[in-house]
Amino acid sequence: MDGNGRWAKKRLLPRVVGHKRGVDAVREVARAARDMGLEALTLYAFSSENWKRPADEIADLMGLLKAFIRSDLQELIDNNARLRIIGDYHGLAPDIVELVEDAMARTAANTGTTLAIALNYGSQQEIARAAARAAAKGAITPEAIEAELYTADLPPLDLLIRTSGEVRLSNFLLWQAAYAEMWFTDVLWPDFTPEHLRQALDQFSTRERRFGGR
Ligand code: IPE
Ligand code: MG
Repeated sequence: MDGNGRWAKKRLLPRVVGHKRGVDAVREVARAARDMGLEALTLYAFSSENWKRPADEIADLMGLLKAFIRSDLQELIDNNARLRIIGDYHGLAPDIVELVEDAMARTAANTGTTLAIALNYGSQQEIARAAARAAAKGAITPEAIEAELYTADLPPLDLLIRTSGEVRLSNFLLWQAAYAEMWFTDVLWPDFTPEHLRQALDQFSTRERRFGGR
């Protein structure tokens, strides 16, 4: 989810307004993912590199995260959705750790769409951690690493979307993206709607995936 800051800047608004509108987009897109019956939707909300941002922006993002979980958890429960957090979320403030652990526990048994939120997430760190954990248990094979990734209990990554015109992965799901289809759009995240998700999925459905075969 990229482009919140530019969305605000274009309108001469503070960045936090862009982040707020970004949360509104998350809510709508998460609803659409459930309505479409997607197995999982993973959102990159806060990267391990985002700590480089000014403290007030980090505080705004954490505040919005807490507000989102408080306001939307019941809707997730009512819709049989499962919340997962990927990333080193124990590195966040204790009140957030408590909030997300409670939310995960309350949705753990749900069987509908999984909403995964990447918090304090960095893919290189994830892979290094998984390799170390695999090594502690035995041989370091691709399967053993995969079983130790934060995403081990999520379905394989099929489609990766990046908004705001940037054409790079920025340390997101590097391992998981090995055979994922990619969809890049100039749309800034706060402007991203369920209709854009539908467009991306339509594109995806036309692609022939060979996974290295022919
Ligand atoms: C949102 O967009 C990304 C988050 C960390 C939530 P940005 O804040 O990166 O927006 P731009 O790139 O400055 O437009
Ligand atoms: Mg950005």
